[in-house]
Amino acid sequence: MIKDNYGRAVSYLRLSVTDRCNLNCFYCRPCKNMRFIPHDQILTYEDMFRLLGVVSEMDVQKVRLTGGEPFARRDILYFLNRIKDDFPRLDIRVTTNATLIAGKIRALKDIGIKGLNISLDTLDPNKYAEITGRNSLDNVLTSIDRCLEEGIRVKVNVVALKGVNDDELEGFVNLAMTKPLDVRFIEFMPIGQKTLWNKEHFWPAREIIRGIGMLTGLNSVDQPVVNNGPARIYSLDQGAGRIGIISPLSNHFCGTCNRLRITADGRLRTCLFSDKDYRLLPLIRSSKISRERLKAVLEKAGMKKPMGHELVEQKNGKSTSFCKRVMSSIGG
Ligand code: 5AD
Repeated sequence: MIKDNYGRAVSYLRLSVTDRCNLNCFYCRPCKNMRFIPHDQILTYEDMFRLLGVVSEMDVQKVRLTGGEPFARRDILYFLNRIKDDFPRLDIRVTTNATLIAGKIRALKDIGIKGLNISLDTLDPNKYAEITGRNSLDNVLTSIDRCLEEGIRVKVNVVALKGVNDDELEGFVNLAMTKPLDVRFIEFMPIGQKTLWNKEHFWPAREIIRGIGMLTGLNSVDQPVVNNGPARIYSLDQGAGRIGIISPLSNHFCGTCNRLRITADGRLRTCLFSDKDYRLLPLIRSSKISRERLKAVLEKAGMKKPMGHELVEQKNGKSTSFCKRVMSSIGG
């Protein structure tokens, strides 16, 4: 079991399977001509199976594939299928922009994917194209409906951006009222050296809640303490959908953080806000490194998992960005 010096146990791994993405969302990858990590430095599927074999023996119960865009990686369905076969007890989730999943949804259901987190920051087709660089809103909305038909749970992730989507509360609330899905607003975080984060774009959780409260009644839903996510969840007076609020800045949840992250180039990050990482790729690939040795490395690194909010406070205004690496290569 991976346990840190604060007594937090790690049961959740976020695994970025590629830093590549077919979208160009300005808040995620601020530089247009960003270089991708070369293929030979990216974890292969075999590397990832070895890693999953190790963590699944360390009480990690949930694995979320992230990117970039996971479905931009070739043969991702093969990978998911093999995870299901080799690690039937792992709870596998995927975070996706849902632009590449049409035609794969039945297969995802068959593999046993219980839920998808779908990044969608606007319900306006023109704005969608402005934010992402692609005209794919209809495609995404159709895939959301198909997932719901197949019984795959959907959480829509909306990065809350003042001046960009703060005029769309009604549309998003309507989405949660008319479909059985969670719409989760995530406070915009200054991630990456060249982040476009600024105070004008920051739309704090309390303002979002207040705005939604003016549209509908919100009823706080108790979440299980163990393995609960970072979102505060509310049901609405109408409909089966719910609203979630994720407030890493205005109300951090570091005390209950149960996650580790692996970047696409095989670096272990123990905290989203810390650039301290551990190069696992050479260890995973080396036949001289035993499973036990890999476990020991993970345990030792996990022990030093920091309290992210303390790191942010220590910066004390010296830098806007919480960390140097961009979100598309960390995986959210
Ligand atoms: N702040 C908050 N959320 C972000 N995401 C990407 N970049 C940021 C940011 N700077 C979101 C993505 C995805 C989730 C994993 O994180 O939209 O849904």
